[in-house]
Amino acid sequence: MSKKLVPIFVGLGLIMLTLVVGVASADVADDTVHLGVNQSDGACADCHNDTTIITGKHTAWAESMHGTGTAYARGTSADCAGCHSGGGFSAMVAAGLTPDEVETGDPNPTRQDCRACHNIHTTYTAEDWSLETTDPVDLYAFEDVTFDGGDGSLCANCHQPRRQMEAEDGIVNVSSTHWGPHHGPQSAMLLGVGGAGDVEGGASDHYDWVEDTCVTCHVANDNHSFEPSLSACLECHEDAENFDIEGVQTGVDELIVELQEALVAKGMLDGDEEHGFHPVVGEYPEAEAAALWNYIFIVIEDGSRGVHNASYTIGLLESSIAALQ
Ligand code: HEC
Ligand code: HEC
Ligand code: HEC
Ligand code: HEC
Ligand code: HEC
Ligand code: HEC
Repeated sequence: MSKKLVPIFVGLGLIMLTLVVGVASADVADDTVHLGVNQSDGACADCHNDTTIITGKHTAWAESMHGTGTAYARGTSADCAGCHSGGGFSAMVAAGLTPDEVETGDPNPTRQDCRACHNIHTTYTAEDWSLETTDPVDLYAFEDVTFDGGDGSLCANCHQPRRQMEAEDGIVNVSSTHWGPHHGPQSAMLLGVGGAGDVEGGASDHYDWVEDTCVTCHVANDNHSFEPSLSACLECHEDAENFDIEGVQTGVDELIVELQEALVAKGMLDGDEEHGFHPVVGEYPEAEAAALWNYIFIVIEDGSRGVHNASYTIGLLESSIAALQ
């Protein structure tokens, strides 16, 4: 054996000794964490290894809204914890609650991170990439409306409206500039519910035909930016060159401008392109308030410009424009 190698072997021996002692003492001294985990069977290395299995996803996630948004800080409040804190979400799922049933805030809120969506560090094996939940979601703002969208049901737990529009004696009280269904009602849009007024919605073809709904379009090839991918559309829309298939987004944009102008003219909507638009506080007749609600639901909150549910989106926009004439 060359003299150079001797110290290396001694060094390795010391490291192995430390590992054995370390694992043994962890088993004895620490009865709360990692108990019973056999660190020599390579399970940690299923994920913690020199591939980009974690870092490759972390990089894209860290630039997404889940990784950059600041609203997670609202997770300290019980009303917001179930959707805004990753840890609060995991606790809510484990307890079988809906977001409105959560009773305590999360004192240490986290972003919607790896642990929120995956079962990280539960079995300490590659099994832990499984999703936190894919059970169908009863949308709590409605009676008897269930989102059963395969893996996309994970997303629907948080991406659902918090309320429907309420009228009293034909009058609607628009109580704040944040009035509306709340951000992220995409699951309801896919199902054709959540708008106001008398348009009868139906589930979108994308709810019926796209197997894992949100995940198929927004997490195509495990894309962790959570932005939709054109490649996901090509399976069914062979010739698509962008998301504006059959000009649906262009058409929706035109209706949006028309509705926006009508609402601004009525003094119900205020703002500009640069800073965005928000509702004007006041009491309005139900049909006009419904037009305002639908503007918020479609433009400010859903954000797909018709892709999630083209016929429901167009139906709501047309009836809203008509209600203001
Ligand atoms: C299913 C894959 C997976 C397995 C198996 C796994 N981990 Fe992790 N681990 C992760 C992920 C994902 C993170 C968070 C990474 C991030 O935030 O970017 C993490 C983070 C960590 C961290 C950083 C601190 C923390 O908790 O965030 C440590 C330490 C760690 N793991 C140790 C272990 C040990 C020890 C084992 C085996 C007993 C193990 N992990 C098994 C996926 C795994
Ligand atoms: C734990 C709740 C939760 C889950 C689960 C969740 N999201 Fe989100 N999502 C949020 C929140 C909260 C934000 C906004 C973050 C902020 O602004 O701080 C967001 C933001 C987004 C955005 C960015 C929206 C924008 O305005 O740019 C997209 C896209 C998105 N989510 C898609 C998904 C998809 C797809 C899934 C399922 C794979 C999913 N989300 C699962 C809570 C969640
Ligand atoms: C049912 C789940 C849910 C609950 C409960 C919830 N939110 Fe959200 N919130 C979301 C989702 C999803 C988004 C991101 C939507 C998107 O960007 O499409 C979001 C976005 C936000 C944003 C960012 C808006 C923006 O445009 O940057 C704020 C602020 C916010 N929520 C505040 C709150 C507060 C405060 C509470 C508690 C009073 C709360 N939310 C409760 C799901 C929820
Ligand atoms: C908003 C939810 C969400 C978040 C946050 C999230 N993931 Fe994922 N991840 C998914 C979905 C959905 C899939 C695709 C479905 C599947 O393969 O089970 C997936 C797939 C994966 C896969 C492929 C798993 C397999 O079995 O092949 C890896 C690896 C992964 N994610 C790592 C991460 C890491 C690391 C983080 C944190 C930096 C993270 N994810 C954060 C939703 C999420
Ligand atoms: C058929 C594919 C498809 C399905 C299914 C789908 N989306 Fe989308 N989504 C899109 C497209 C396309 C856009 C518009 C992107 C654009 O115009 O830039 C979009 C827009 C969004 C936005 C707004 C993004 C932004 O930057 O403002 C969010 C958030 C979102 N989707 C979440 C979801 C959630 C949650 C689900 C499931 C409940 C879902 N989507 C289902 C394709 C899909
Ligand atoms: C699993 C199949 C499937 C996938 C994937 C899919 N779609 Fe669709 N899409 C359909 C079906 C079915 C229809 C209804 C039939 C039609 O009008 O062509 C439809 C209709 C549409 C419409 C309305 C067209 C119209 O004339 O009313 C738009 C817009 C659209 N899809 C966009 C997208 C985008 C963007 C993606 C990718 C992000 C996508 N679709 C992914 C199956 C799919």
